[in-house]
Amino acid sequence: MRNLNPPLGPLSVDQFMRRHWQRKPLLIRAALPDFKPPLSPEALFELATRDDVESRLVSQPRGRWRLDRGPFDAQDLPARTRRAWTLLVQGVDLHVDAVHDLLARFRFVPDVRLDDLMISYATDGGGVGPHVDSYDVFLLQAHGRRRWRISAPRAIELLPDAPLRILSHFEAEQEWVLEPGDILYLPPLWGHEGTALGECMTYSIGFRAPSRLELLRGFLADCADTVSGPDPRFGDRGLAPTRTPGRLPEPMTRSLAGWLTNWRPTKRQIDDYIGRFLTEPKPSVWFEAQARPPALSAWWEGAQRRGVRADRRSRLAYRGRHLFINGECFDMLPGTSASLRRLADSRELPPDALRATPVDSDLARSLHQWFCAGWINHSR
Ligand code: SIN
Ligand code: CO
Repeated sequence: MRNLNPPLGPLSVDQFMRRHWQRKPLLIRAALPDFKPPLSPEALFELATRDDVESRLVSQPRGRWRLDRGPFDAQDLPARTRRAWTLLVQGVDLHVDAVHDLLARFRFVPDVRLDDLMISYATDGGGVGPHVDSYDVFLLQAHGRRRWRISAPRAIELLPDAPLRILSHFEAEQEWVLEPGDILYLPPLWGHEGTALGECMTYSIGFRAPSRLELLRGFLADCADTVSGPDPRFGDRGLAPTRTPGRLPEPMTRSLAGWLTNWRPTKRQIDDYIGRFLTEPKPSVWFEAQARPPALSAWWEGAQRRGVRADRRSRLAYRGRHLFINGECFDMLPGTSASLRRLADSRELPPDALRATPVDSDLARSLHQWFCAGWINHSR
């Protein structure tokens, strides 16, 4: 995955990050001037039939919002001649290489902040209503035209009883009609409403950012599974008989409170968890391990000839001596760290990066192990 030119029009990446990222919207006309959508509407409908792909259908029969969840057979979708319906397909980058490759344009933001690429297909008048998202998004107009209306963050009220989060009051402050190749960047919590002008497809390059509660929930569950060492149990030798058996015993409360107050995760536990948490694959992702794993030596010969690349669904990151891949932490042994960092940064290692490395090296063994797990592949 090469880091291609960022689609920011006349702005440099530095200017965009300083002035717009997480601050204010930006309309970029002809951000990808010769953009040809890699997926036809038919190919998108086909994806929506799969049960490993998250898809939703939004329509408004008799003026009431309706949300259906996929998978959808072809006959479940309204006719393309019917007005005002939208099909949303999440995580298309996990399934289509050409769509995944588009994300390389946005790698001026660290990978762990990238979430996925969602594609919407809509017929004339279609849209998902005015709403806010909690995350940054680049809305790339892929096919046809869409009118976007936006408003600055403010206290929000949602339509009661609607199956989607739709703002009950939305007053647009700015609006534009996006043409193919245009991009609208929106920071979190900006109100927005997109309406298809004729048949239209929009690609949403979405980001993610954990909330404190999400982090804590996972961390505490993880600690509960991995805490080692002695496990003291409460004892109350010398307990005086009680005449108020319903009362919480004070010494017991104090002891337990002390355990909770004094428990501290180690730095290693914290660092390790953050990397694993941020590289955890999406819940819909399953890696197929090789049914018949190849012998290391034969595999390494092929890898040296063709190079290796990360599977498009793999999440990688490194910090210090640790490489995190798909929710697991590996110590980078001496001699492997430059190559493994390169794998994480460019998502591939070309043949010349592997040629001088012997088969009995830690690098060859790690890459072979990850190939067998389905996390990396030979290069295309
Ligand atoms: C859409 O493409 O219809 C919706 C995208 C969004 O509003 O985030
Ligand atoms: Co949105």
